[in-house]
Amino acid sequence: MEQTQIKKRILFLATIAIAFFCSGYAQLPLYLDDNQPIEERVKNALNRMTLEEKVKLCIAQSKFSSHGVPRLGIPELWMSDGPHGVREEIEWNTWKRAQWTNDSCTAFPALTCLAATWSPEMSAIYGKAIGEEARYREKDVLLGPGVNIYRTPLNGRNFEYIGEDPYLASVLVVPYIQELQKNGVAACVKHFALNNQELWRGHIDVHLSDRALHEIYLPAFKAAAQQGGSWTIMGAYNKVRGEHACHNDLLLNKILKEEWGFDGAVITDWGGAHDTDEAVFNGLDIEMGTYTDGLARESEFTYDDYYLAAPYLKGLKEGKYPISTLDDKASRILRLIFRTAMNRHKPCGSFASEEHFEVARKISEDGIVLLKNSSVSTKQPALLPLQGEKYERILVVGENATRAQTQGGGSSELKVKREVSPLEGLKARYGDKINYAQGYKAGRPHYGRVEEIPQEITDSLRADAVEKAKDAEVVIFVGGLNKNHQQDAEAGDRITYDLPFGQNELIRELLAVNKNVIVVLVSGNAVAMPWVQEVPAILQAWYSGSEAGNALANIISGDVTPSGKLPFSFPVKLTDNGAHTFDYMSYPGDSIRQEYKEDILVGYRWHDTKKIPALFPFGHGLSYTSFAYSQITADKKQLNSPEDKIKVSVTVTNTGPVKGKEVVQLYIGDERSSFARPLKELKRLP
Ligand code: GLC
Repeated sequence: MEQTQIKKRILFLATIAIAFFCSGYAQLPLYLDDNQPIEERVKNALNRMTLEEKVKLCIAQSKFSSHGVPRLGIPELWMSDGPHGVREEIEWNTWKRAQWTNDSCTAFPALTCLAATWSPEMSAIYGKAIGEEARYREKDVLLGPGVNIYRTPLNGRNFEYIGEDPYLASVLVVPYIQELQKNGVAACVKHFALNNQELWRGHIDVHLSDRALHEIYLPAFKAAAQQGGSWTIMGAYNKVRGEHACHNDLLLNKILKEEWGFDGAVITDWGGAHDTDEAVFNGLDIEMGTYTDGLARESEFTYDDYYLAAPYLKGLKEGKYPISTLDDKASRILRLIFRTAMNRHKPCGSFASEEHFEVARKISEDGIVLLKNSSVSTKQPALLPLQGEKYERILVVGENATRAQTQGGGSSELKVKREVSPLEGLKARYGDKINYAQGYKAGRPHYGRVEEIPQEITDSLRADAVEKAKDAEVVIFVGGLNKNHQQDAEAGDRITYDLPFGQNELIRELLAVNKNVIVVLVSGNAVAMPWVQEVPAILQAWYSGSEAGNALANIISGDVTPSGKLPFSFPVKLTDNGAHTFDYMSYPGDSIRQEYKEDILVGYRWHDTKKIPALFPFGHGLSYTSFAYSQITADKKQLNSPEDKIKVSVTVTNTGPVKGKEVVQLYIGDERSSFARPLKELKRLP
């Protein structure tokens, strides 16, 4: 064939091919083309979907997944708890564990520990690492972080949250979300809003002033939505001013979506929807849960019985519900899917890596708070740090020295690849100088019930510990709470402010035979400390996850200088707390309604304004070194408009023997305010 003919043939075929592609016939449908603007993709997908397909997007298809659109190649959404690590796989439609063998994760410290670092940088590395784990486990939505304000020390889930101050919670929640979502995994900030206790959580109707709502309980959610850019938010179980939070016109339509401009999807807490009309009109987008009581009772309700399932479809077809309500929900869900499941640019993630264990340990080290550090005599230095070379016989006492604290607690429970206990960490650091006595028994984690411990067991464990303490040079008591029911656990509140299982009596008997007692509290809540004067050293050690023992040993030994600051107040007694100053309507309510009578005076705001000294105040934390503060200076005398900024400066100098970190905290008070204000409020971190 002539050269010319060949060229003509090629030219002809090329022309056909170009024409073919330009015709758009072979082009990707727009919604599948992730080079297109996401809003164009949403519209394009929406226009291709049937009514039934749109409705299905709004409901669960299994315990932890919601529908996609199989016909259009739009994948389902996979969700997983929780705020401290990626929960093990759960069966398709039960709360049972799926018993996979490849889902043992990194347990990061509980969020109260992150809060105690007061560090946005720690929050960022936390969000990045947990996002990598969720991405690796192919989850599209991570059900966390939680930012409900610490109103009462009895709330069973305070350990999952970021403390009592709205500013601190706002500053720390943002980096966690931003870094998490860089993995193509949506944060699901929870529980929106006013889920500040677990007792009657499914229905208690919270009433409070607008100031308390907007000044105390909403700011962290607002920061999460606006600065964090959270792609989803979880409605709370409780009611707010008469309407369930999962379909609440004030919270979801007026505040979240209209005022704050939230473009993400609102997801119920599991089984948190209760009414179709409200679910349709009051801002709910995805209904999850299978009508269980939270863990046990399954009902005969199928997913088609969901409030946003068959009843919604029927109402749409009858014209009772405008299609616009459905298009808004479906658009938000499609946007979520394009940001996550259909995001082809997301990284691959990583899981249970040494890098992640290192992140867990660093956060734990920076979160541990040194509450008290003295010696038994003025001639001796403070008991901590415990220089190994000075001691031969160190006794560790307490069940929390060996207890696996990543288990229990409810939905934030984890199956971990590693959990170094305090005893293991201390043995690794001090070797065979360490002896151990259990001292007390707490019982295994049970959802919804407490294991009774026979008195004779309590007595014999205590006697053994006290006997061993006689021969020790120093005793490290590791106690506190645990993740059992009516301790630090979901679906129940604590029934006492005291340490349980006879710990106070045990501490007193240990002190009677050995003055050198270091108390380490592993908990997510404040507790009463009747022995506080007699105990020379006290550490608040939180639930610190996979590296708990190594972090604690590094702090006790002085390899790391403690720098944590309390993210909530420790009242001397429960009635010193604002929520517990009033009658039962303030806490826990009358089982139907509750009134936040302390109003804006939550936590230190109460202690300062009512001049009730806390045992250990919000922001408190000691160091092994000392810091000097220069005179504070401001670059102007007054602010002339709300937009005006004032620059405040202070120089902090480490004046002590070892290196350490200090958290500068700026509080502002208005002595001439014409309306009620707290004495001071935290307004800036460095
Ligand atoms: C639980 C919790 C919520 C959790 C969800 C799924 O009831 O309240 O925080 O994410 O159900 O387990």
